[in-house]
Amino acid sequence: MSIQSKLPQVELSIFTEMSALAAQTGAINLSQGFPEFEAPQFLKQAVNQAINQDLNQYSPSAGRSELLNAIQMLIEKQYGLDLDAAMQVTITSGATEALFVAIQTIVFSGDEVIIFDPAYDSYAPAIEMAGGKCVHLALQQPSYQINWQQLENAINSKTKAIIINSPHNPTGSLLNQAAMQKLQDLVVENSLYLISDEVYEYITFDGERHESVLRYPKLFARSFVISSFGKTFHTTGWKMGYCVAPAELSHEFRKIHQYVTFCSPTPFQVAIASMLQQGHDHIQNLSAFYQQKRDLLIQALAGSRFKILPAKGTYFLLLDYSEISDLPDREFCQWLCKENGLAAIPLSPFYEKGCDSRVIRVCFAKYEATLKQAAQLLKQL
Ligand SMILES: Cc1ncc(COP(=O)(O)O)c(C=O)c1O
Repeated sequence: MSIQSKLPQVELSIFTEMSALAAQTGAINLSQGFPEFEAPQFLKQAVNQAINQDLNQYSPSAGRSELLNAIQMLIEKQYGLDLDAAMQVTITSGATEALFVAIQTIVFSGDEVIIFDPAYDSYAPAIEMAGGKCVHLALQQPSYQINWQQLENAINSKTKAIIINSPHNPTGSLLNQAAMQKLQDLVVENSLYLISDEVYEYITFDGERHESVLRYPKLFARSFVISSFGKTFHTTGWKMGYCVAPAELSHEFRKIHQYVTFCSPTPFQVAIASMLQQGHDHIQNLSAFYQQKRDLLIQALAGSRFKILPAKGTYFLLLDYSEISDLPDREFCQWLCKENGLAAIPLSPFYEKGCDSRVIRVCFAKYEATLKQAAQLLKQL
């Protein structure tokens, strides 16, 4: 029997490949993007308490009201936008589900969706599964910013939506205020939708402000804004996220969400709601927490032959290894892992047609000792 593939081009993801290689070789794993450290104590206690109180049944499909209201208050505090939580916020099983559902909500057969390479790997398959065509534009190096002329040229009558991601995985770049204004003009003028992947919204460095779509009312009117509690609360394995969109868009989004997961796990919703209600210290401190880690890794790499590219947000750092090796990035990462004991991610799988920029991504959401040990290994190359 042979099964016809809906995603014939998709193979084992690079994250799975490198994590398996890291486990096999016992290498330090800076490949997949997840924190090494504990979730906040309060959150762990709150989820246990919710389970013990038997809050173990289905939640309303859009999410429990205390969590929706807590998100509304957080957004008001952060971005000054007063939402109607009951109509505009939907809890999802990770940002991945929110991205998938948002794409299924707006993309019809033959529609084009513009994404920017290097891109997070879930966008293109979700667009294709909706019958759409993914149009890949490359971010401009070395700053990894949008090429506006190229974007304008790519927009045509079939263009349905644009997907952005800021702070950006894998490059750590940010979209600034001027970029968001330009984007707003383009989206409004061309009656497009915008899907804004903001999962690293609370991790920006050197005093840079995250320019959420939620700060731009005309842009928000046409947008799905997506975030992840996994990134914010060091709980990537909980797969808890949410989507904020105008009521009309949320209404259609929820129709699909109910047939994908129906709802997200109740104890996690209860725990995150009480974490948000008890104050926002964790969130307010997150940028400083990760900036310290970024700086520690950069300092520990001083004197190495890697060229460190600027990182303004996220918990990733790009390293240019062109002074060390001529190997393509995938082979370089395999060599790095097998021969030198460190797992990193090559940049080329983030591109539709690959790239030969001799750049790898490392994740610095790790303990100080892990980062120092990793830097020690990298400095020897
Ligand atoms: C840019 C980006 N979007 C979405 C996700 C998925 O988030 P979640 O784990 O909440 O599904 C990730 C996770 O690595 C990511 O880096």
